[in-house]
Amino acid sequence: MTVYNIGAKNSLLNKFVSEIRDESVQQDSLRFRRNIERIGEVLGYELSKVLSYSSSEVKTPLGNKSINLPTEDIVLCSILRAGLPLHNGLLNYYDKAENAFVSAYRKHINEKEFEIKIEYLATPDLHGKTLLLADPMLATGRSLVDTYKALLKKGVPKEIHIICVIGSEIGIEYIKKHFPENTKLWIAAIDEKLNDKGYIIPGLGDAGDLSYGSKL
Ligand code: URA
Repeated sequence: MTVYNIGAKNSLLNKFVSEIRDESVQQDSLRFRRNIERIGEVLGYELSKVLSYSSSEVKTPLGNKSINLPTEDIVLCSILRAGLPLHNGLLNYYDKAENAFVSAYRKHINEKEFEIKIEYLATPDLHGKTLLLADPMLATGRSLVDTYKALLKKGVPKEIHIICVIGSEIGIEYIKKHFPENTKLWIAAIDEKLNDKGYIIPGLGDAGDLSYGSKL
């Protein structure tokens, strides 16, 4: 797997990341969702640079111009519910993409241990397509890997791009072991560790709750 840590270089992306982390800003859930969406737009633009292109011709009112355009069939898949703002950001740029949705949640066995439960999966055929798999918080990596395994039953994609906002080092190592070698990870920030409940430290808290409110 190749990791593209886009936040490692100075850019406006880090302004968006700083705002979603900042507890004095993140109470504004509209701004939180919009910043995640903006991060999706930036990461989507960055990954567009490695897609396949072919030459095409565009007819203007005054003449013709040749231009290289992406050729891939893209399926954009997100994990409900925290993935929705990131999904929207990516969809703003990949507006012709097909869409897939998976529900994955942590079912706690006790205070510290949990299993990932996938109960809903809606996807088009994935065979030979370019799969963009969006998950804002790459903590343990287990929901991403379990989602990938569930999606494989619906076809084997040609290539996979994983898009995350914040990831932990341990989560990145875990997904590296389970995704094909040619997978690319596009990420805005990498944090060092997880707490004993599997949250990224310093991270930002619960991305789903910050976007949509707390749940039972
Ligand atoms: N999901 C979140 O929303 N936050 C984390 O830190 C880890 C998983």
